[in-house]
Amino acid sequence: MENISSEYKVLFVCLGNICRSPAAQAIFEHYVREAGLQDRIKVDSAGIYGGHQGNPPDRRMRTAALYRGFAVTHTARQVKAMDFMDFDLIIAMDDQNYEDLMHLAPSVEATHKVRRMADFLTTHKISYIPDPYYMGVEGFSHVLDLLEESCQNLLTQLRSTFRF
Ligand code: 4NP
Repeated sequence: MENISSEYKVLFVCLGNICRSPAAQAIFEHYVREAGLQDRIKVDSAGIYGGHQGNPPDRRMRTAALYRGFAVTHTARQVKAMDFMDFDLIIAMDDQNYEDLMHLAPSVEATHKVRRMADFLTTHKISYIPDPYYMGVEGFSHVLDLLEESCQNLLTQLRSTFRF
């Protein structure tokens, strides 16, 4: 997590960029704003798959997140090579996203920016953020539980590392 500029940039990545990663973006941005760090930490999200590019987040995720006070308002886009230059930290939701990012990374240095979201979980014993796309309401709720905890821990870790 090295960074020499005053702005630290985090990119959340899932498959479609309409469920997990835009929700992670909204939740993390919420915590960043609450901490008054919106000028120091920038957040975005993207998808491995480009088929939903230009679309709003999935309605089921928007509804479930809004119920918890998080407005998910991202426009889907696909991961691009420049993301590995532009962002300090790239966080994959599951193992397949992680492997895909490893293959897309243009350099060994770029691979060092990629982490798994579940690495930031402490109480939940699961190694990935499950894809809720084919799940019911409980699936979306479970994903939001995981994202809330991992986003909180991520912010705590960044604040301690960079003394934000
Ligand atoms: P996400 O969920 O990766 O969390 O955005 C998905 C959205 C769409 C598809 C798969 C997963 N899809 O196959 O279209």
